[in-house]
Amino acid sequence: MLRRLYHEQPASFEFTPANLAWAKGQITKYPEGRQASAIIPLLWRAQEQEGWLSRAAIEHVADMLGMAHIRALEVATFYFMFQLQPVGSVAHIQICGTTSCMICGAEDLIRVCKEKIAPNAHQLSADGKFSWEEVECLGACTNAPMAQIGKDYYEDLTVESLSRLLDDMAAGKVPAPGPQNGRYASEPLKGLTSLKEFESGRTKFNASAQLAADIGDTIKRIDGTEVPLLTPWLGKGGAGDVAAPVKPKAAAKAKAPAKPKAPTKAAEPAAKEAAPKAASGKPKKPRALKEPRKGGADDLKMIKGVGPKLEKLLNSLGFYHFDQVAKWTADELAWVDDNLEGFKGRASRDNWIEQATLLASGGQTEFSKRVKKGDVY
Ligand code: FES
Repeated sequence: MLRRLYHEQPASFEFTPANLAWAKGQITKYPEGRQASAIIPLLWRAQEQEGWLSRAAIEHVADMLGMAHIRALEVATFYFMFQLQPVGSVAHIQICGTTSCMICGAEDLIRVCKEKIAPNAHQLSADGKFSWEEVECLGACTNAPMAQIGKDYYEDLTVESLSRLLDDMAAGKVPAPGPQNGRYASEPLKGLTSLKEFESGRTKFNASAQLAADIGDTIKRIDGTEVPLLTPWLGKGGAGDVAAPVKPKAAAKAKAPAKPKAPTKAAEPAAKEAAPKAASGKPKKPRALKEPRKGGADDLKMIKGVGPKLEKLLNSLGFYHFDQVAKWTADELAWVDDNLEGFKGRASRDNWIEQATLLASGGQTEFSKRVKKGDVY
């Protein structure tokens, strides 16, 4: 397939400030003189931000990495994962058309895309909200037929369920990813035949779908503010190190991460980002309450990463209110992370303290707004 740059191009491209900090952090992974190795993550982030790669974006990334434009153009035009033309403003639908999916109905799904979106792959729908393409096996063959939509997989699809998903997305909703036929994961269609003891107490969705539903950024453009910027190799205070998962016991024994001998210029601004209060390495239980205060407990599910099961667990540990979470110190956060049975590290990873601080002050996070709108299932 001939992959050309789109005939209409924007005049310029800039990363958002947070994406720029992330990109600069990525560049520091590589030794001096090898910055070009960061080409794929940077192009990918540019695509996550804009939905597709314009010539301006490709050349901007090349300039950041000190590469000739043609080298970056070669990479962007080689890999099919890079979209070289505008995609739907709401979602780009990638239907798997390989053997298992084809046998199980992928051609019907493609027909839905042709009817509901546009007659041709990579063509925008009339309202500009959707686009589609057929892709090769996405490795979810047990749940065929399936589609990748945004960052997540929607599986066990039918003509009806795909049509419903498109209608929901057009209406501003983000349906929960995963199997769409009531199947939990990839167990036999008639139900579990073994390991039945794990059926009770499980989360609403399987682990992948639950995480996707908790994060809720399936079809969102990424501006860099919604995810922690993990650059642990820069040490504490590196680009967005705030939410790097902390394993208290291991962390206590571990040596401090070595700082690069000569940080590149790109690393400097990222390294100046706010550092969390350093943990002493001794996890400490935060002050807990026996019961919620008079006004009743806060809805902790407004915090991204907290589902019904985790809310129950937090309540059982004596945490009911946003302001309790907002006051956790680094050592207390480490204790909580260590006691989230089955979810260890999630409080750090999802930056609960920062979210709770905003919620406790009456503000809203992107995620809590979506929960209120009913977009999070
Ligand atoms: S054949 Fe469709 S996911 Fe493998």
